[in-house]
Amino acid sequence: MQRRQFLILSASSLGGVLLAQCGTPKESSSNSSSNATPVLKSENGLLEVDLNLDSGTFSFDGQQGNLLSYNQQIPGPRLEASPGDTVRIRATNFLSESTNLHYHGLHISPQEPADHIFLELSPGETYTYEFTIPENHHSMTAYYHPHFHGLVADQVFAGLGGIFVVRGALDEIPEVKAAQEEFIFLKDFDLTGNSRNRHSRMMGREGSTLTVNGEVNPSFSIPSGGLLRLRMVNASNARFYRLKLENHPFYLIATDAGAIASVRELSELLLSPGERAEVLIKGDAESGEYRLLNLPYQRGGMGMMGNGMMGRGMMGGEDDSPQTLATLTYSGEVESQPLPENLIPVEELPEPETVRELTLNHGMFPGRGMQFLINGQAFDPQRVDTRVTVGTVEDWEIRNTGTMDHPFHLHTNPFQVIRRNGEAVSNREWKDTVLVPQGETVRIRIPFRQFRGKTVYHCHVLDHEDLGMMGNIVMQ
Ligand code: C2O
Ligand code: CU
Ligand code: CU
Repeated sequence: MQRRQFLILSASSLGGVLLAQCGTPKESSSNSSSNATPVLKSENGLLEVDLNLDSGTFSFDGQQGNLLSYNQQIPGPRLEASPGDTVRIRATNFLSESTNLHYHGLHISPQEPADHIFLELSPGETYTYEFTIPENHHSMTAYYHPHFHGLVADQVFAGLGGIFVVRGALDEIPEVKAAQEEFIFLKDFDLTGNSRNRHSRMMGREGSTLTVNGEVNPSFSIPSGGLLRLRMVNASNARFYRLKLENHPFYLIATDAGAIASVRELSELLLSPGERAEVLIKGDAESGEYRLLNLPYQRGGMGMMGNGMMGRGMMGGEDDSPQTLATLTYSGEVESQPLPENLIPVEELPEPETVRELTLNHGMFPGRGMQFLINGQAFDPQRVDTRVTVGTVEDWEIRNTGTMDHPFHLHTNPFQVIRRNGEAVSNREWKDTVLVPQGETVRIRIPFRQFRGKTVYHCHVLDHEDLGMMGNIVMQ
């Protein structure tokens, strides 16, 4: 069985780095799949990277598909930098359509040449992004992906995306540092062509090939007594992951945009698209194989066709039984590694200066069909929906009056969830994407800090974003 994802041939081979990979399966890397993803780290305060966007044929578990990639890798190379570092990314578009890059989760400028998502990188063009990671930036697992409106879902679903790690204080906590670090980059692919219709776009396209770090069911190992640190990213277009590791609880240490104050034990963890979480796993079970499972979850459907139509059953001919994502095995033994006592305090934000309301739903528009809406309006690139003042704190009350779940994402500034359905949320965490389930209301508190300019907020079911569920925000 060929489990590893590898490049069969490249449609247009570009230079040395890529040639080395051509036609050869990636080297098998004993038991750590994340070793297979190339890692590019900053040196002497500078992270300098060439990212080539290209198409090519990839194979997963014996099935092939023509996909999109960064540097002929799925996922794209893992980028790593620290607070204070300068990042310079030279992106070249070898695709036949426009694209660009977004640094999801990073607290950096939304203007050129940084996280400027309104930029159009046309076919054949090269653009050099450059920004500095602020000195006080949180340690986090961030996520880069394309953000050219109208094509975001197509391009992410076809393979584009990679991890951007900001290393810092969390990584220096001794117990965390001692843990073995692994990455869980969750991405599903449609190699069958089943999802190519308008209906599945409205649902948010899911593919039946589930991959972790570009592999189908990779294995990870833990020594008996040891600690494993998993940095998990939902990099899928629309698929939700309700994660559970057999016989092992998750010890949550970080959410999207940074560490939490102390470890929290969870028996399962729901990650909607765009969300990340970091957990520790204790190697305290009996030696054996344990599956990382994706449990069934209903994220709703379009009202007129009845709710619940878009469970998994509809998307890929799958039933409602748990799906295996990866396998944990035991190997070796170490002296028992403790969990950390304390992590990093999450500041309490002051009362807001402004409170806004945002309502999420979808509706039919004459001549345009089904559109996805915020406050009754579909995205208009010319319209400014929200103006905020840098240096102030705002509460946004986000109400989902529709029949589908929407993960709400804001660029540039992380936020905290303050209330769900009117009830105070006691766990303080830094988030940049929050699930607003059908029929529910979530209140978030956002400190607008440091960066001015125009950016967006949107549903991270990326088909919904492309179909209109996005707004422009100007921070001044
Ligand atoms: Cu991860 Cu605006 O996106
Ligand atoms: Cu983002
Ligand atoms: Cu949505």
